[in-house]
Amino acid sequence: MTQISVPTNVPVQAEAAEPAEVAEPIGATEPGVAVEVVHAVEAPRPGYLDGFSDAWRAVLNQPIGLRAELDRMRATAPFYDATVNEIAGRRVRIRDHWLTDFASCNYLGLDLDREVIAAVGPYLDRWGTHPSWSRMIASPEPYADIEMTLAALLGTQDALLLPTITHIQLSVLPALVARGSLFVEVHAHQTAHDGAVMTAARGGTVARFREDRLDRLERRLRRAPFPRLICVDGIHSMTGNAPPLADLIALAGRHDALVYIDDAHGFGVVGERAANETSPYGSRGNGIVRHLGQAYDNVILVGGFSKAYSSLLAFVACPTPVKDYLKSAAGSYIFSGPSPVASLATGLVGLQINERRGDELRARLYTLTRRLLDGIHGLGLATLNTSGFPIIEIPLRDPDHAAELGDFLYARGVLAGVVPFPIVPREKVGMRVQVTAANTEAEIDDLLAVLADAHARYPLALADTEAAAGDGAARNVGAVQNVGAVQNVGAEGA
Ligand SMILES: Cc1ncc(COP(=O)(O)O)c(C=O)c1O
Repeated sequence: MTQISVPTNVPVQAEAAEPAEVAEPIGATEPGVAVEVVHAVEAPRPGYLDGFSDAWRAVLNQPIGLRAELDRMRATAPFYDATVNEIAGRRVRIRDHWLTDFASCNYLGLDLDREVIAAVGPYLDRWGTHPSWSRMIASPEPYADIEMTLAALLGTQDALLLPTITHIQLSVLPALVARGSLFVEVHAHQTAHDGAVMTAARGGTVARFREDRLDRLERRLRRAPFPRLICVDGIHSMTGNAPPLADLIALAGRHDALVYIDDAHGFGVVGERAANETSPYGSRGNGIVRHLGQAYDNVILVGGFSKAYSSLLAFVACPTPVKDYLKSAAGSYIFSGPSPVASLATGLVGLQINERRGDELRARLYTLTRRLLDGIHGLGLATLNTSGFPIIEIPLRDPDHAAELGDFLYARGVLAGVVPFPIVPREKVGMRVQVTAANTEAEIDDLLAVLADAHARYPLALADTEAAAGDGAARNVGAVQNVGAVQNVGAEGA
């Protein structure tokens, strides 16, 4: 039996780096050999609450609902809440255990790009580490440079930079909706639902809708108080698929509503279609609206740099009058601290690299993703991904195996997302891997070997059976003619 020592959630001082011993490739454990995961340290309850009352101790020690499950997982699962002690390409060391990182959203690999890294120092010399003013007070020049470059890339009139999409959801949604109506797609990212709570607290009317039932949304839009805003994810963070954007934009036009799209994942990966495109992701990475050939009429596009661009920045792409309105109405422009200068530098240089060699990076990303998807199909496994985007979720047949699957992957050197019930619905429990341009072919092949072994122990959903059946199994089922990275035919299961 192979014993592998893994950390618990107890904070561990980073050990002096071992001589850069290069990790065994993932999948090195012999197939069929039982792998026992040994937790290096028992996870004691820390004693920090000594100065707190019994009532507060009870609250903090016994989280309820979803938090209880997360609490349990953090205490027991090696693949949660880990401290990474070293990275080498997409290999990461957690204490003495090396894994290959398939949980990163750094799609273009710019986090490791020497040109990006080298660019940071000169910006710090010129601007210091952090502007510290709220944007309302003042902003260093790179802000204006990035906003202008972004607007040109996306094809919008203007763009407004804020630190994160989370800030944007919490401040821009309530600012735009005011006392009107907000419709949020049920599968939208949690931060959009948090923004909806804030909108309701400010007097807006909030409702959820399903993108496969736009007829229902249309009925409700007819009697909804103005202003009306429809909020959806662009490329979906779990399935990698796209929303029925053309239908949504047409619907919004009929009812004087805006469509607000959170394209956190699509920006930097998918873009306008072109005869000379290097992959079905399209060209220039200018986002889902351009990729699907739509115009920006009645559209607010939100995106972030924290995924494809490996930086801490986010934007609202919109007409200049909307930007001006938000400067007086969105709390995060007025009250929040800005992004650090290192993020402005990596964002700006990332955009320059995108123009020069972004399509080359996307071609590599597509090749690696295709290799993984073909391998998954070859194993007969289901994935929710019908688009070819580098987010690949593979559901488990038995959702109760989530923790064991996570332990197995970790022990075999795969860092991947595994989310148990009830954090996601039972039919969505499984593993999620992301591919980046900085992964290697060998890493993809090793992952496929580990997946085959994992499937032998903890059966994964099979193609054409489980995946097609469940709610949310695929966001864009059907019509997968290979015309593009993202199919725009949304019709989620019942
Ligand atoms: C769809 C989506 N929206 C928003 C966010 C949050 O983005 P940020 O880190 O910029 O707040 C994420 C991050 O995972 C996401 O996947």
